[in-house]
Amino acid sequence: MEILAPTPENLRRAGQALAHGGLVAIPTETVYGLGANAFDEVAVARVFEAKARPSFDPLIVHIADLAQVERVARDLPASAGRLMERLWPGPLTLILPKREEVPDLVTSGLPSVALRFPANGIAQEVIRAAGTPVAAPSANPFGYLSPTTAAHVAAMLGEKVDFIVDGGPCRIGVESTVLDLTGERPLVLRPGGMPVEEIEEVVGKVDLWDRIVSAPKSPGQLPSHYAPRTPLFLVDSGGLGKAEPEGRAVALFFDGASSAAFDATPGKARFAVRRFLSVQGDLVEAAARLFSTLHELDRLGFDQIWAERLPERGLGRAVNDRLFKASTK
Ligand code: TXA
Ligand code: MG
Repeated sequence: MEILAPTPENLRRAGQALAHGGLVAIPTETVYGLGANAFDEVAVARVFEAKARPSFDPLIVHIADLAQVERVARDLPASAGRLMERLWPGPLTLILPKREEVPDLVTSGLPSVALRFPANGIAQEVIRAAGTPVAAPSANPFGYLSPTTAAHVAAMLGEKVDFIVDGGPCRIGVESTVLDLTGERPLVLRPGGMPVEEIEEVVGKVDLWDRIVSAPKSPGQLPSHYAPRTPLFLVDSGGLGKAEPEGRAVALFFDGASSAAFDATPGKARFAVRRFLSVQGDLVEAAARLFSTLHELDRLGFDQIWAERLPERGLGRAVNDRLFKASTK
Protein backbone atom coordinates (compact mmCIF):
# COMPACT_ATOMS: atom_id res chain seq x y z
CA MET A 1 0.00 0.00 0.00
CA GLU A 2 1.15 3.49 -0.80
CA ILE A 3 -0.38 6.80 0.30
CA LEU A 4 -0.41 9.24 -2.60
CA ALA A 5 -0.38 13.02 -2.37
CA PRO A 6 -2.91 14.39 -4.87
CA THR A 7 -0.45 15.55 -7.55
CA PRO A 8 -1.61 15.33 -11.19
CA GLU A 9 0.93 12.55 -11.77
CA ASN A 10 -0.33 10.56 -8.76
CA LEU A 11 -4.01 10.98 -9.71
CA ARG A 12 -3.14 9.49 -13.11
CA ARG A 13 -1.36 6.61 -11.38
CA ALA A 14 -4.37 5.99 -9.15
CA GLY A 15 -6.68 6.05 -12.18
CA GLN A 16 -4.43 3.61 -14.06
CA ALA A 17 -4.41 1.27 -11.06
CA LEU A 18 -8.22 1.27 -11.07
CA ALA A 19 -8.31 0.63 -14.81
CA HIS A 20 -6.09 -2.41 -14.26
CA GLY A 21 -8.12 -4.02 -11.49
CA GLY A 22 -6.51 -2.35 -8.47
CA LEU A 23 -8.16 -1.15 -5.26
CA VAL A 24 -7.76 2.56 -4.62
CA ALA A 25 -9.15 4.49 -1.66
CA ILE A 26 -10.30 7.91 -2.81
CA PRO A 27 -11.39 11.00 -0.91
CA THR A 28 -14.90 12.26 -1.61
CA GLU A 29 -16.75 15.19 -0.05
CA THR A 30 -18.65 12.75 2.19
CA VAL A 31 -16.28 9.97 3.34
CA TYR A 32 -13.37 8.05 1.79
CA GLY A 33 -14.44 5.37 -0.65
CA LEU A 34 -12.75 2.07 -1.52
CA GLY A 35 -12.84 2.09 -5.30
CA ALA A 36 -12.68 -0.57 -8.00
CA ASN A 37 -13.55 -0.59 -11.70
CA ALA A 38 -17.35 -1.14 -11.63
CA PHE A 39 -17.20 -3.38 -14.71
CA ASP A 40 -14.40 -5.62 -13.38
CA GLU A 41 -16.01 -8.36 -11.30
CA VAL A 42 -12.75 -9.62 -9.85
CA ALA A 43 -11.76 -6.15 -8.68
CA VAL A 44 -15.22 -5.66 -7.15
CA ALA A 45 -14.92 -9.02 -5.39
CA ARG A 46 -11.67 -7.80 -3.82
CA VAL A 47 -13.57 -4.81 -2.40
CA PHE A 48 -16.00 -7.12 -0.60
CA GLU A 49 -13.07 -9.18 0.67
CA ALA A 50 -11.14 -6.15 1.91
CA LYS A 51 -14.19 -4.86 3.80
CA ALA A 52 -15.28 -8.31 5.01
CA ARG A 53 -18.61 -7.11 3.65
CA PRO A 54 -21.55 -9.48 3.18
CA SER A 55 -22.16 -9.79 -0.53
CA PHE A 56 -25.83 -8.86 -0.11
CA ASP A 57 -24.76 -5.25 0.32
CA PRO A 58 -24.79 -3.43 -3.04
CA LEU A 59 -22.20 -0.77 -3.94
CA ILE A 60 -22.54 2.79 -5.21
CA VAL A 61 -21.19 3.40 -8.71
CA HIS A 62 -19.32 6.72 -8.97
CA ILE A 63 -19.05 8.75 -12.15
CA ALA A 64 -17.33 12.02 -12.99
CA ASP A 65 -19.10 12.90 -16.19
CA LEU A 66 -22.85 12.93 -16.94
CA ALA A 67 -22.15 11.06 -20.18
CA GLN A 68 -21.33 8.03 -18.02
CA VAL A 69 -24.88 7.82 -16.59
CA GLU A 70 -26.03 5.88 -19.63
CA ARG A 71 -23.34 3.24 -19.25
CA VAL A 72 -24.80 2.28 -15.88
CA ALA A 73 -28.50 3.19 -15.69
CA ARG A 74 -31.49 3.23 -18.06
CA ASP A 75 -35.10 4.42 -18.27
CA LEU A 76 -34.42 7.48 -16.16
CA PRO A 77 -37.54 9.11 -14.70
CA ALA A 78 -37.87 12.88 -15.28
CA SER A 79 -37.11 13.50 -11.62
CA ALA A 80 -33.63 11.97 -12.09
CA GLY A 81 -32.71 14.51 -14.76
CA ARG A 82 -33.88 17.41 -12.58
CA LEU A 83 -31.97 16.13 -9.54
CA MET A 84 -28.78 15.57 -11.54
CA GLU A 85 -28.98 19.05 -12.98
CA ARG A 86 -29.65 20.80 -9.68
CA LEU A 87 -27.82 18.73 -7.06
CA TRP A 88 -24.96 16.95 -8.88
CA PRO A 89 -22.10 16.79 -8.38
CA GLY A 90 -22.86 16.34 -4.69
CA PRO A 91 -23.68 14.03 -1.77
CA LEU A 92 -26.76 12.50 -3.40
CA THR A 93 -26.95 8.88 -4.58
CA LEU A 94 -29.78 7.96 -6.94
CA ILE A 95 -31.22 4.45 -7.23
CA LEU A 96 -32.17 3.82 -10.86
CA PRO A 97 -32.96 0.85 -13.11
CA LYS A 98 -29.65 -0.76 -13.99
CA ARG A 99 -28.13 -1.63 -17.34
CA GLU A 100 -27.53 -5.30 -17.86
CA GLU A 101 -23.78 -4.72 -18.34
CA VAL A 102 -23.37 -3.74 -14.66
CA PRO A 103 -22.16 -6.89 -12.87
CA ASP A 104 -24.64 -8.46 -10.45
CA LEU A 105 -21.95 -8.42 -7.80
CA VAL A 106 -22.09 -4.61 -7.79
CA THR A 107 -25.85 -4.50 -7.25
CA SER A 108 -26.21 -7.73 -5.24
CA GLY A 109 -28.46 -9.04 -7.96
CA LEU A 110 -30.92 -6.13 -7.65
CA PRO A 111 -32.51 -4.79 -10.85
CA SER A 112 -31.45 -1.30 -9.73
CA VAL A 113 -28.11 0.45 -9.38
CA ALA A 114 -26.92 3.22 -7.04
CA LEU A 115 -25.30 6.11 -8.90
CA ARG A 116 -23.41 9.14 -7.61
CA PHE A 117 -21.33 12.01 -9.03
CA PRO A 118 -19.09 13.14 -6.16
CA ALA A 119 -18.28 16.85 -5.80
CA ASN A 120 -14.67 16.30 -4.71
CA GLY A 121 -12.27 17.39 -7.48
CA ILE A 122 -9.66 14.76 -6.56
CA ALA A 123 -12.24 11.97 -6.79
CA GLN A 124 -13.37 13.34 -10.14
CA GLU A 125 -9.81 13.40 -11.49
CA VAL A 126 -9.15 9.82 -10.42
CA ILE A 127 -12.43 8.56 -11.90
CA ARG A 128 -11.73 10.37 -15.18
CA ALA A 129 -8.20 8.96 -15.26
CA ALA A 130 -9.63 5.47 -14.69
CA GLY A 131 -11.82 5.94 -17.76
CA THR A 132 -14.57 3.86 -16.17
CA PRO A 133 -17.29 4.23 -13.54
CA VAL A 134 -15.91 3.29 -10.12
CA ALA A 135 -17.79 1.12 -7.62
CA ALA A 136 -16.93 2.28 -4.12
CA PRO A 137 -18.34 1.61 -0.67
CA SER A 138 -17.06 3.59 2.29
CA ALA A 139 -13.44 2.51 2.97
CA ASN A 140 -14.04 0.90 6.37
CA PRO A 141 -14.43 -2.70 7.55
CA PHE A 142 -18.12 -3.66 7.35
CA GLY A 143 -20.16 -2.24 10.23
CA TYR A 144 -17.36 -0.04 11.59
CA LEU A 145 -17.08 3.77 11.59
CA SER A 146 -16.64 5.39 8.18
CA PRO A 147 -13.28 7.04 7.37
CA THR A 148 -13.02 10.79 6.90
CA THR A 149 -9.20 10.97 6.59
CA ALA A 150 -6.54 8.98 4.72
CA ALA A 151 -5.10 7.98 8.10
CA HIS A 152 -8.42 6.38 9.10
CA VAL A 153 -8.30 4.28 5.92
CA ALA A 154 -4.66 3.31 6.45
CA ALA A 155 -5.37 2.25 10.04
CA MET A 156 -8.44 0.19 9.12
CA LEU A 157 -7.62 -1.33 5.72
CA GLY A 158 -3.85 -0.79 5.37
CA GLU A 159 -2.31 -3.52 3.26
CA LYS A 160 -5.63 -4.57 1.73
CA VAL A 161 -5.55 -1.64 -0.72
CA ASP A 162 -3.08 -0.71 -3.45
CA PHE A 163 -3.22 3.08 -3.01
CA ILE A 164 -4.82 5.61 -0.71
CA VAL A 165 -5.16 9.03 -2.31
CA ASP A 166 -4.80 11.60 0.46
CA GLY A 167 -7.24 14.45 -0.08
CA GLY A 168 -7.27 15.69 3.52
CA PRO A 169 -10.35 15.57 5.76
CA CYS A 170 -13.72 15.13 4.04
CA ARG A 171 -15.68 18.37 3.80
CA ILE A 172 -19.13 16.96 4.65
CA GLY A 173 -18.19 13.97 6.77
CA VAL A 174 -21.33 11.81 6.53
CA GLU A 175 -22.24 9.53 3.63
CA SER A 176 -24.44 10.60 0.76
CA THR A 177 -28.21 10.65 0.96
CA VAL A 178 -29.55 7.57 -0.86
CA LEU A 179 -32.74 8.32 -2.83
CA ASP A 180 -34.69 5.54 -4.52
CA LEU A 181 -36.29 6.71 -7.77
CA THR A 182 -37.63 3.32 -8.87
CA GLY A 183 -40.95 3.57 -7.02
CA GLU A 184 -44.10 5.69 -7.32
CA ARG A 185 -42.59 8.52 -5.33
CA PRO A 186 -38.95 9.30 -4.37
CA LEU A 187 -37.98 7.45 -1.20
CA VAL A 188 -35.04 8.32 1.06
CA LEU A 189 -33.38 5.02 1.97
CA ARG A 190 -30.56 6.67 3.92
CA PRO A 191 -30.47 10.25 5.19
CA GLY A 192 -27.07 11.78 4.45
CA GLY A 193 -25.02 14.72 3.28
CA MET A 194 -27.72 16.14 1.00
CA PRO A 195 -30.47 17.50 3.25
CA VAL A 196 -33.95 16.14 2.51
CA GLU A 197 -35.19 19.75 2.45
CA GLU A 198 -33.00 20.50 -0.61
CA ILE A 199 -34.20 17.40 -2.45
CA GLU A 200 -37.81 18.37 -1.81
CA GLU A 201 -37.18 21.78 -3.37
CA VAL A 202 -36.45 19.96 -6.63
CA VAL A 203 -38.94 17.05 -6.67
CA GLY A 204 -41.55 17.92 -4.05
CA LYS A 205 -42.44 15.75 -1.07
CA VAL A 206 -40.40 12.56 -0.69
CA ASP A 207 -41.05 9.55 1.49
CA LEU A 208 -38.70 8.93 4.39
CA TRP A 209 -37.81 5.35 5.02
CA ASP A 210 -38.57 4.46 8.62
CA ARG A 211 -35.42 3.62 10.55
CA ILE A 212 -36.25 0.32 12.11
CA VAL A 213 -37.47 -2.30 9.70
CA SER A 214 -36.88 -6.01 9.96
CA ALA A 215 -36.18 -6.60 6.26
CA PRO A 216 -33.82 -3.85 5.11
CA LYS A 217 -33.81 -3.02 1.43
CA SER A 218 -30.52 -1.20 1.83
CA PRO A 219 -27.96 -2.49 4.34
CA GLY A 220 -27.28 1.10 5.36
CA GLN A 221 -30.69 0.51 6.92
CA LEU A 222 -29.43 -2.26 9.17
CA PRO A 223 -30.10 -1.10 12.72
CA SER A 224 -26.46 -1.67 13.74
CA HIS A 225 -23.88 -0.08 11.47
CA TYR A 226 -21.24 2.65 11.46
CA ALA A 227 -20.42 1.55 15.01
CA PRO A 228 -17.41 2.19 17.27
CA ARG A 229 -16.12 -0.70 19.40
CA THR A 230 -16.88 1.23 22.57
CA PRO A 231 -20.56 0.78 23.49
CA LEU A 232 -22.46 3.94 22.58
CA PHE A 233 -25.70 5.06 24.21
CA LEU A 234 -27.95 7.63 22.61
CA VAL A 235 -30.22 9.95 24.60
CA ASP A 236 -32.53 12.82 23.70
CA SER A 237 -31.17 16.34 23.55
CA GLY A 238 -30.58 17.57 27.10
CA GLY A 239 -30.78 13.99 28.46
CA LEU A 240 -27.14 13.51 29.49
CA GLY A 241 -27.77 15.05 32.92
CA LYS A 242 -29.97 12.07 33.75
CA ALA A 243 -27.70 9.42 32.21
CA GLU A 244 -26.36 6.63 34.43
CA PRO A 245 -23.08 5.57 32.80
CA GLU A 246 -20.92 2.73 34.11
CA GLY A 247 -17.13 2.71 34.24
CA ARG A 248 -15.14 5.44 32.51
CA ALA A 249 -17.56 7.27 30.28
CA VAL A 250 -17.42 10.16 27.86
CA ALA A 251 -20.27 12.57 27.19
CA LEU A 252 -20.70 13.65 23.57
CA PHE A 253 -22.72 16.86 23.29
CA PHE A 254 -24.12 18.50 20.21
CA ASP A 255 -23.21 22.04 21.28
CA GLY A 256 -21.84 24.29 23.99
CA ALA A 257 -25.31 25.31 25.13
CA SER A 258 -26.37 21.80 26.14
CA SER A 259 -22.98 21.20 27.73
CA ALA A 260 -23.42 24.39 29.81
CA ALA A 261 -26.90 23.27 30.91
CA PHE A 262 -25.42 19.88 31.86
CA ASP A 263 -23.03 21.61 34.28
CA ALA A 264 -26.02 22.40 36.49
CA THR A 265 -26.99 18.70 36.85
CA PRO A 266 -25.78 16.03 39.26
CA GLY A 267 -25.01 13.86 36.19
CA LYS A 268 -21.97 16.01 35.56
CA ALA A 269 -19.74 14.06 37.95
CA ARG A 270 -20.52 10.74 36.24
CA PHE A 271 -18.51 11.53 33.09
CA ALA A 272 -14.71 11.59 32.89
CA VAL A 273 -14.48 13.50 29.63
CA ARG A 274 -16.76 15.55 27.43
CA ARG A 275 -16.66 16.39 23.74
CA PHE A 276 -18.75 18.59 21.43
CA LEU A 277 -19.66 18.04 17.81
CA SER A 278 -20.04 21.80 17.33
CA VAL A 279 -19.53 24.34 20.11
CA GLN A 280 -21.60 26.86 18.11
CA GLY A 281 -24.41 24.39 17.38
CA ASP A 282 -23.75 24.27 13.63
CA LEU A 283 -25.26 21.12 12.06
CA VAL A 284 -22.85 21.18 9.12
CA GLU A 285 -19.81 21.34 11.39
CA ALA A 286 -21.28 18.62 13.60
CA ALA A 287 -21.66 16.28 10.60
CA ALA A 288 -18.13 17.02 9.40
CA ARG A 289 -16.71 16.14 12.82
CA LEU A 290 -18.90 13.12 13.65
CA PHE A 291 -16.78 10.21 12.45
CA SER A 292 -13.39 11.71 13.34
CA THR A 293 -14.67 12.39 16.87
CA LEU A 294 -15.98 8.83 17.20
CA HIS A 295 -12.70 7.40 15.85
CA GLU A 296 -10.82 9.45 18.43
CA LEU A 297 -13.13 8.47 21.31
CA ASP A 298 -12.87 4.83 20.32
CA ARG A 299 -9.08 5.04 20.52
CA LEU A 300 -9.32 6.43 24.07
CA GLY A 301 -10.59 3.00 25.08
CA PHE A 302 -13.27 4.19 27.51
CA ASP A 303 -15.99 1.88 28.76
CA GLN A 304 -18.92 3.83 27.35
CA ILE A 305 -19.78 6.75 25.09
CA TRP A 306 -23.00 8.62 25.82
CA ALA A 307 -24.22 10.89 23.03
CA GLU A 308 -27.16 13.23 22.71
CA ARG A 309 -29.40 13.57 19.66
CA LEU A 310 -29.20 16.60 17.39
CA PRO A 311 -32.15 18.62 16.10
CA GLU A 312 -33.92 16.50 13.44
CA ARG A 313 -33.43 18.86 10.49
CA GLY A 314 -30.83 19.46 7.77
CA LEU A 315 -27.70 17.38 8.38
CA GLY A 316 -28.92 16.70 11.94
CA ARG A 317 -31.07 13.95 10.42
CA ALA A 318 -28.02 12.15 8.98
CA VAL A 319 -26.00 12.54 12.20
CA ASN A 320 -28.92 11.18 14.30
CA ASP A 321 -29.26 8.24 11.91
CA ARG A 322 -25.53 7.37 12.25
CA LEU A 323 -25.59 7.81 16.04
CA PHE A 324 -28.66 5.60 16.25
CA LYS A 325 -27.00 2.89 14.15
CA ALA A 326 -23.80 3.18 16.19
CA SER A 327 -25.69 2.80 19.45
CA THR A 328 -26.07 -0.26 21.64
CA LYS A 329 -29.66 -1.43 21.46
O1 TXA B 1 -21.12 9.03 0.51
C1 TXA B 1 -21.21 7.87 0.14
O2 TXA B 1 -22.28 7.39 -0.30
C2 TXA B 1 -19.94 7.01 0.26
C3 TXA B 1 -18.89 7.57 -0.68
C4 TXA B 1 -17.66 6.70 -0.75
O3 TXA B 1 -19.45 7.77 -1.94
N1 TXA B 1 -20.25 5.65 -0.06
C5 TXA B 1 -20.97 4.84 0.75
O4 TXA B 1 -21.10 3.56 0.29
O5 TXA B 1 -21.46 5.21 1.80
P1 TXA B 1 -21.65 2.36 1.16
O6 TXA B 1 -21.43 1.15 0.34
O7 TXA B 1 -21.01 2.39 2.48
O8 TXA B 1 -23.18 2.61 1.26
C6 TXA B 1 -23.99 2.46 0.12
C7 TXA B 1 -25.44 2.40 0.51
C8 TXA B 1 -25.72 1.12 1.27
O9 TXA B 1 -26.63 1.41 2.30
C9 TXA B 1 -26.34 0.26 0.17
O10 TXA B 1 -27.15 -0.74 0.69
C10 TXA B 1 -27.11 1.28 -0.63
O11 TXA B 1 -26.25 2.39 -0.67
N2 TXA B 1 -27.37 0.79 -2.00
C11 TXA B 1 -26.48 0.57 -2.97
N3 TXA B 1 -27.09 0.09 -4.09
C12 TXA B 1 -28.40 0.03 -3.81
C13 TXA B 1 -29.56 -0.37 -4.55
N4 TXA B 1 -29.49 -0.81 -5.80
N5 TXA B 1 -30.77 -0.30 -3.92
C14 TXA B 1 -30.85 0.15 -2.64
N6 TXA B 1 -29.80 0.55 -1.90
C15 TXA B 1 -28.60 0.48 -2.47
MG1 MG C 1 -20.58 2.24 4.46
